[in-house]
Amino acid sequence: MKTTLAAIAVAILAFAGVAATASAAPSPIAAYSLAAPTSVMKSGLIARAVVPAGSPCPSLVVDDRRIPMEQREAAPNTGAAFSGVMVCERPMPRGARQASVGGLQVPAAMPAQVKRIGIFDDSGCRILPSYATQNCADDRAWPLARISRRVADSNPDVVLVPGDFFYRETSCPATQQALCAGSPPPVGGMPFTDQAYGWIADALLPMQPVLRAAPLIVARGNHEACYRAGNGYMLFMDPRPNTWDDCAPVQAANGTLVAPEVVTPSYAVDLPVGTGRSLRMVITDTAEGSDTRVTAAAALMQPWFAHAQQLAAPARGRESWLISHRPLFGFISSLVAAPGTSPWSSADAVAASQGTLGNYRFIVSGHIHLAQGVQVPGQPGQLVLGNGGTELEPPTGYATPSFGPGTPPYPAPSWSWTLSEFGYAVATPGRRAGRWTLRLRDMDGRQQATCSVAGRQLGCTPSR
Ligand SMILES: [Fe+2]
Ligand SMILES: [Fe+2]
Repeated sequence: MKTTLAAIAVAILAFAGVAATASAAPSPIAAYSLAAPTSVMKSGLIARAVVPAGSPCPSLVVDDRRIPMEQREAAPNTGAAFSGVMVCERPMPRGARQASVGGLQVPAAMPAQVKRIGIFDDSGCRILPSYATQNCADDRAWPLARISRRVADSNPDVVLVPGDFFYRETSCPATQQALCAGSPPPVGGMPFTDQAYGWIADALLPMQPVLRAAPLIVARGNHEACYRAGNGYMLFMDPRPNTWDDCAPVQAANGTLVAPEVVTPSYAVDLPVGTGRSLRMVITDTAEGSDTRVTAAAALMQPWFAHAQQLAAPARGRESWLISHRPLFGFISSLVAAPGTSPWSSADAVAASQGTLGNYRFIVSGHIHLAQGVQVPGQPGQLVLGNGGTELEPPTGYATPSFGPGTPPYPAPSWSWTLSEFGYAVATPGRRAGRWTLRLRDMDGRQQATCSVAGRQLGCTPSR
């Protein structure tokens, strides 16, 4: 399938046409269900629908009952960036068996028992002057649509996407029209880079198979920092009711709008695995900060890593994973190669998380655009799955990074494995508590590796 911008434009106009002529609510541009903390949503699930602006919110149809949805507003001071669409939402009632919005089926309930968890990350089409432009019209060069279909075909009970949805951060360069012609550009004069049509092109349309398949569990990536695509993340993706305006630009003393630096609270999503056994995913916000040096963002994140640790406190039958977009034991080849620098990525998150990782069995991250397993002695194993569609990191420079005494705070990994190839993972629980198998597959569904989690240990065996 070719995901061309022309096709997206036709689709949007078709939906808009429905809005203009029909008296009934229009078909949504996208509809989906997001896993939310049960502290704010009893069913643990919220339904969202994105419709053309100017039309009423459609109803959420649950088991033949029509329930009104309400508008989730775009943040103030975002100008025209999101004015072309309206986002509608409604907490899913408990006990729902089937749900749809405007004829689009949406996941109706959190799973009663989790057997398969689909995972992918770092998914948008890269358009940024300092990087090579990706071919957004080729589903092998930018394979998000393909990966989304593969993940949906694996019949997941939930799908975890830990951040970096949005990569269309500039206008398509004049010299690159063959790659990204027509990609929605940022709105001028705004202290951020995203807008509604960019989100439709980069996430909502190519992810449709996954949106239909299962509830999404999401985390915020650094591409969703407030000065980048944070407003769109808070509008479309963050599941909590009170986050919609967290990234609203604020007026500086000289009258200009500036993006705030915000870290949202950590929260937990519980997934029943079997009798007396559950998996708690603790979602942390590591959108802000620097990869290479410790900044003021570390102090903003630290209290939420401490809160996350409390959420992961040991409880009978419960095993906890930390979900953090930025890895805490991840390394990038450019950092590995630079003499005198630490190989560890994500300096702020690493600093903020010090001493808070004792309650986790496993960490799932993205951020580095490849698949990477790392085991640091005394710490939970960590898997990076940042190979979900955006331009990959180069495949070289990972085998022997130098973790000397000058590279605190962690000792050298006892094991690591890196694969720079597009793909996704499906996690399945083992019979014994704490055991999981993650099968990593490429965009054609071919197995790349099998990883296993046991206790706090991770290991991966390449398939070829
Ligand atoms: Fe990324
Ligand atoms: Fe990232």
